[in-house]
Amino acid sequence: MYNRRAEIEKLKKRIDMNRLPVHVGIIMDGNGRWAKKRLLPRLAGHREGMERVKEIVEVSSNLGIKYLTLYAFSTENWKRPKEEIDGLMKLLVYYLITELDTLIKNNVKIHILGDITELPDRPRIEVENAVERTKNNNHMTLNIALNYGGRDEIVKGIKDIVNDVKLGNIEVDDIDEKTISNYLYTRFQPDPDLLIRPSGELRLSNFMLYQIAYTEFWFSNTYWPDFREEHFYRAIIDYQKRDRRYGGI
Ligand code: FPP
Repeated sequence: MYNRRAEIEKLKKRIDMNRLPVHVGIIMDGNGRWAKKRLLPRLAGHREGMERVKEIVEVSSNLGIKYLTLYAFSTENWKRPKEEIDGLMKLLVYYLITELDTLIKNNVKIHILGDITELPDRPRIEVENAVERTKNNNHMTLNIALNYGGRDEIVKGIKDIVNDVKLGNIEVDDIDEKTISNYLYTRFQPDPDLLIRPSGELRLSNFMLYQIAYTEFWFSNTYWPDFREEHFYRAIIDYQKRDRRYGGI
């Protein structure tokens, strides 16, 4: 009989704890298809996806991942039917309300990538509360990309840089790659080492366009609601086999 716990422990032992990725990004995809396959409404897929959020956040924090970025809602997702958007916002609120104590206990800091002023009041208030209540935590940073788009982030960063030049806060000649990094939502964070995209799609969907210059990609056909602890470990094991040269030889 297949013993899942034993398999997980075996995988865990194969991880080199001295070479963990510092920052892992995940494009959580396939919730809709997971539901369709089971003849369930799309929201059932998102609900199961939220269970995986809980699991992977906990697993990452236990393992010692310092930054975990989850793509929860893109600037393009507003094009979805209102019912689905409302459902996703409700799930976000539910997640924050039910998980906040655990996140605080585990010393996890919540940071948002994206413009949350455009969210409906209830999710916006819960997000602000979670950010405020976890702001001094330092074991792991959980970046939730919400109303996030990589191009939108770059546009906003450029506007802020131009304004700071106008105000005399920075000189044009002093602008370098680091300056741009520090005007993005991920300011002062390391770039992702590993980007995971489940569900079989091989694209970036406007995710962290500036930050992923040297990120290792890991794709799998598993839908996000089926993406468990063991898949996460497999991604890390594969990542540790890669030879990262950053353009060198
Ligand atoms: C993409 O799957 C997934 C999303 C747009 C939403 C992700 C949201 C969650 C996992 C739940 C709540 C999140 C948090 C942080 C509590 P899709 O709907 O595009 O799937 P499909 O391509 O199969 O249709």
